[in-house]
Amino acid sequence: MVNVIGLGYIGLPTALMLASHGVEVVGTDYNKELVDTLNAGHTTFKEKGLDELFDAAVNAGITFTTQYMVTDTYIVSVPTPYDKFSKKVDAKYVVAAVKDVLAVCPEGATLVIESTVSPGTIEKFVRPVLAKGVKIVHAPERIIPGNMVYELLHNNRTIGADDRATGEAVKKIYSSFCEGEIVVTDIKTAEMTKVVENTYRAVNIAFANELAKICRHDGMDVYEIIKICNMHPRVNILQPGPGVGGHCISVDPWFLVGDYPSLAKVIDEAMRTNDAMPDFVLNRIYEIMKEKGMTDITRVGLYGLTYKENVDDMRESPTLQLLESQERHLATGLKVYDPFITADVVANQYHNLDEFLNAVDMVVVMVKHNEIKENAEKLAGKVVLDCHNIIDQPGVYHI
Ligand SMILES: NC(=O)c1ccc[n+]([C@@H]2O[C@H](COP(=O)([O-])OP(=O)(O)OC[C@H]3O[C@@H](n4cnc5c(N)ncnc54)[C@H](O)[C@@H]3O)[C@@H](O)[C@H]2O)c1
Repeated sequence: MVNVIGLGYIGLPTALMLASHGVEVVGTDYNKELVDTLNAGHTTFKEKGLDELFDAAVNAGITFTTQYMVTDTYIVSVPTPYDKFSKKVDAKYVVAAVKDVLAVCPEGATLVIESTVSPGTIEKFVRPVLAKGVKIVHAPERIIPGNMVYELLHNNRTIGADDRATGEAVKKIYSSFCEGEIVVTDIKTAEMTKVVENTYRAVNIAFANELAKICRHDGMDVYEIIKICNMHPRVNILQPGPGVGGHCISVDPWFLVGDYPSLAKVIDEAMRTNDAMPDFVLNRIYEIMKEKGMTDITRVGLYGLTYKENVDDMRESPTLQLLESQERHLATGLKVYDPFITADVVANQYHNLDEFLNAVDMVVVMVKHNEIKENAEKLAGKVVLDCHNIIDQPGVYHI
């Protein structure tokens, strides 16, 4: 039996996937409310295909609890934030979960850490607390919110272990559902590959954002330029945007800056470039309002609160960063709407697209949800700052 510890965005789909492919699974989370919701037959976040997967897993016998199980295999998927001052990974949740497991697990159990950690974290923070001959493995997760179910099935995976036999045994568990290639390597390599993958994307996005600023300064169309450059067989530039959010690309590269401050110069600069984008958008709003003779900030609305399109995850989102920046400038009044956020989470928030659009003269497209693409005609007559180049209308402003 596999005991999955931490039933958030990563742990829950992983547990469900294993259970629906014939593995006996118990899901554990110390958040009682979350466990009660799952036991009442409801999923805890919106994700394409998750409800169907949940039903299949429940039919296959998965159970949810706040207790840690006595079993031979554990998969730990708890948060790994970074310390805002030192930029280093904060491993306290991982270490706490490992200690909780050690309190109940039998001799020789296998403990798989799925949480993203910087290279050396397991050696530094986890190995010193290990006991009972527990085997430690790192199996970082790569799935993207919005396409998690498909990617769990099809992505290639990495497993880092101290010895081949342990790695192969864990590979067998993931092979129950994973149709991608599973590479077995050592733990530090597995730790580093995960962080490097997200860093590669963060640096590429920062490059696109920098190009957007250069093009804005000198009257060039960054989208046309990136489109043409990407027709080169060895060039693949990502798109600029209003900032980077979520718990991967906006977090993991900082681990390398924190651990290797005198070496990770490009990464440091890239992260600062991405983090400055919400302020850049705020400044664009100011410039456009001035150009249009607009003076009332309450007639400006931000479309989208989540960190990416078609998901309900708001963590570290550019819109939240922009609202914080507004506050830091001692200003208030920007209106906000997101079809995926039903709870009231910020001031001046709307829950209906038409009501939101009626209340504003200028719309800033912060997130490219399908909803706004499908209702683009409703933006006619508005001043539009399109941060994703998705609104094909005359007079639309870009970052
Ligand atoms: N969200 C993503 O898109 C994504 C993608 C790839 C990797 N990751 C990595 O996966 C890890 C988990 O991220 P997430 O987004 O699922 O986090 P999350 O916050 O959604 O979920 C973590 C869960 O762990 C629970 N938890 C924490 N400590 C616990 C403990 N000691 N015992 C039992 N439960 C505990 C929390 O209550 C929470 O429900 C992180 O390291 C993250 O960097 C996330």
